[in-house]
Amino acid sequence: MKLFGNERVVLADDPATAERLGWTVRRRSAPAPEIVLAPVAGDPRREPWIAQGRVPPGGGAGILWKGHGRDWTYLREAPGVDRYLRALARPPRVRDFTVGISGLGRVGGLAASALSAAATAHTRIGTLLLHDCDAGNLERMVQELGSVASWRGNSPLPRVEAAGLPEMMRHCDAFLFAAASAVPPLGTPGDVRLPQFQPNRACLQGALDAANAEGYAGLFLMVSDPVEVLAQTAFHDSNAPGGAWLGTGLAPERLGGLALGVMWGRAMAEAAAVGQRERVARTGVPYGPHSAEVLVFDDPAAPDPALCEAMTRTARTGNYRVRDLGFLPYIGPALSSIVLTLPELLAGKEVLASSFVDGVYFGAPCRLRWGLSPTRRRIAPEVRGQLEDLHLLLRNRMSGLGIAF
Ligand SMILES: NC(=O)c1ccc[n+]([C@@H]2O[C@H](COP(=O)([O-])OP(=O)(O)OC[C@H]3O[C@@H](n4cnc5c(N)ncnc54)[C@H](O)[C@@H]3O)[C@@H](O)[C@H]2O)c1
Repeated sequence: MKLFGNERVVLADDPATAERLGWTVRRRSAPAPEIVLAPVAGDPRREPWIAQGRVPPGGGAGILWKGHGRDWTYLREAPGVDRYLRALARPPRVRDFTVGISGLGRVGGLAASALSAAATAHTRIGTLLLHDCDAGNLERMVQELGSVASWRGNSPLPRVEAAGLPEMMRHCDAFLFAAASAVPPLGTPGDVRLPQFQPNRACLQGALDAANAEGYAGLFLMVSDPVEVLAQTAFHDSNAPGGAWLGTGLAPERLGGLALGVMWGRAMAEAAAVGQRERVARTGVPYGPHSAEVLVFDDPAAPDPALCEAMTRTARTGNYRVRDLGFLPYIGPALSSIVLTLPELLAGKEVLASSFVDGVYFGAPCRLRWGLSPTRRRIAPEVRGQLEDLHLLLRNRMSGLGIAF
């Protein structure tokens, strides 16, 4: 086997890609590589471009319970894979992360506020970069968060700075998109997430353009609604800007959605109300989108149907209960889906987020290895059926919206 590259990552037997990257045959004196990447043929529109334990496309939600290996592979024919191979070869950051948040409204503003007051030693976030299209709001947030300090506190807090989108794409390890053109006001009947698709798609374009222009290879995390649809849109629009597949944009595994955390929080309130908090905290799992289709299980290996139904109902309707009180819901979402999730995600721990599951962004427990990938667990046959149906429903929805490949 011929190895190419002299950093922590090597390519196995792929001189053509190595030449494009400028990676030479590995020196005999170099230490053993940390990652040996084998080229494979695959479909860059339906699966991660770089993966550990590749699962070929076509298995639907089965990736959530089926076993897979531990070998590292990359899709040789993915046109845009080079920038991600280069990024993987750099020493991985384990602390002092730079996080960017675009959209400093209720959700993004609260998340930025809470993260700005959390010690870097705890969150590993060294710098928070802020962006909003409203210059007044941006300046206000820079002033407000710039005045967060603890007298004689010896736990440094993150630096907080304003940044343009290109600057964010040059420096961020994780970029959060929390901007919205207009959240449906109180009293709006029916679904308040999917109607935001077209206006928020337009808002997203600037960030996608900046990401591609700067060769961004960090994490691109969707917070804005409809979360999974917009994550899919980001993958689609950055790789098919004129509608036809180019494949030179954001890698699917570097995109994700942060939204399942609050669904879990709402469901846990239900479990606590019926005296099941501790057991369900150990065994429970939510799956699916940030919408009224989310599913929650007290234990996916041995579900209690009545409790699953109650938890699922509470998760699905939680936002309406707050709206009915006369307030827009954003505190639980910002804290659960972002503030309590992002630091764990950056630390490589298992979190609740939406990742690319056979061509569709789908909420599930997942982990950041290189990209976000769902973690497997034992799942009862009746639960598998529900997850397969939900995956298919989402796939059809994405196709109907013209954003699935
Ligand atoms: N992921 C979750 O768990 C979750 C939960 C609740 C709400 N949401 C969604 O989060 C989004 C934001 O909600 P909100 O209540 O904070 O909205 P908001 O109206 O309070 O704030 C939106 C912010 O985005 C800014 N903005 C608009 N266009 C922009 C652009 N192109 N670039 C940069 N900034 C831009 C606005 O100036 C504003 O500050 C909505 O789509 C909402 O439905 C997500």
